[in-house]
Amino acid sequence: MQVGIDEIGFYTPNKYVDMVDLANARNEDPNKYLEGIGQSQMSVADQTQDAVSMGINATLGYLDHVDLNQVGLLILGTESGVDQSKSGSLFIKSALKLPAAVRTFEIKEACFGVTAGLMLARDYVRLHPHHSAIVIGSDIARYGLNSGGEVTQGAGSISLLIKAEPRILAINNGHSAYSADINDFWRPNNSATALVDGKYSKAVYLDFFERTFADYQRIKKWSPAQFEAIVYHLPFTKMGFKANNLAMAGQPAEVEHHLANNFTASAWFNRQVGNIYTASLYLSLLSLLEKADLAPGATIGLFSYGSGAMGEFYSGQLVSGYQQKLRPIADEQMLMRRQKLSIPQYETIFNEALKQPIDNVELASDEAAGYWYFAGTKNEVRQYHQK
Ligand code: COA
Repeated sequence: MQVGIDEIGFYTPNKYVDMVDLANARNEDPNKYLEGIGQSQMSVADQTQDAVSMGINATLGYLDHVDLNQVGLLILGTESGVDQSKSGSLFIKSALKLPAAVRTFEIKEACFGVTAGLMLARDYVRLHPHHSAIVIGSDIARYGLNSGGEVTQGAGSISLLIKAEPRILAINNGHSAYSADINDFWRPNNSATALVDGKYSKAVYLDFFERTFADYQRIKKWSPAQFEAIVYHLPFTKMGFKANNLAMAGQPAEVEHHLANNFTASAWFNRQVGNIYTASLYLSLLSLLEKADLAPGATIGLFSYGSGAMGEFYSGQLVSGYQQKLRPIADEQMLMRRQKLSIPQYETIFNEALKQPIDNVELASDEAAGYWYFAGTKNEVRQYHQK
């Protein structure tokens, strides 16, 4: 029996900043952002979108196709949690009307959270083949105005349905993991924005990639030529570009050619959405599937990295007919519908979103009809409404 990804849902908030505008406002050469960092735009969440509402919205994209009574597991991977105790997944479970028998919780290990959830879900479905699992990654990357990491912010969510006999990507047996207790990126409890040692984090990311990729090839007795494409956690697209260069080094021209072209396809959405932490790798997978032309059966490598730090490499095989399970027009429209913010507008929204909402004051959202949003707190309890 094969187990893997059967549905992919995507949501990003309805506002963005253009990187040329941001570069001009920060007295930087726009080419540093566009080419050096590899980002063109970044989505911006106002105070009415958080990890919970974005996770609901991402799942709505495919919810009509799911037998809710068969969902036995719901996992939220996030590093933008809304509560220190209660799992954000319980608000999501309620909005999606999942059965009371669902097992649900939140996972944290920086940007590795969704991969941790996906591996748990895979093993759960192997034991309970008539059940499915929903794994959601949902995050807002905030480093702060005028900070070094500002250009690598973003907001959005990816939701995955994990099932037996999946119709998009069957996950292969085997993986290679590597962990170390280091301090490249973290967010203390008293800080709404992340702390990062940017240059160190880039070096560690590449080190973890080299280790896990080499180990995976040793375990599987494969070479880079086995992979039609490799997708990466993309905190900014240049990061994955560098890792992909390591993967391609010394390979024949045709291997280099398809790995390079498919990397460009896999970075398309991330280049416009920005960093969405836990979900970035899976946004890149969606981008690859919708923007590249891949044959069924193609092997795709996936490199997951979460600061702190945890790395894992694994792979999957594309399932015949996978294109029918994608929604490329709706996903492109998700980007096209966004309103472009001026830098002063972005700064106001950013500062507003950092504040604690005033209790018992209902927040209004400018999202389109059907989307969910955070409506503030009522007697300190978070409220989620649908437009
Ligand atoms: N045109 C083209 N490229 C330019 C340029 C220009 N005018 N000016 C600079 N660059 C290039 C630099 O050469 C560099 O490329 P390299 O990485 O290949 O060396 C790149 O742009 C970035 O320049 P740098 O000076 O390193 O930028 P920075 O000090 O502003 O820091 C980050 C960039 C990414 C380190 C910073 O934004 C950050 O800390 N982000 C968060 C990091 C993160 O997400 N870490 C988590 C990893 S999982």
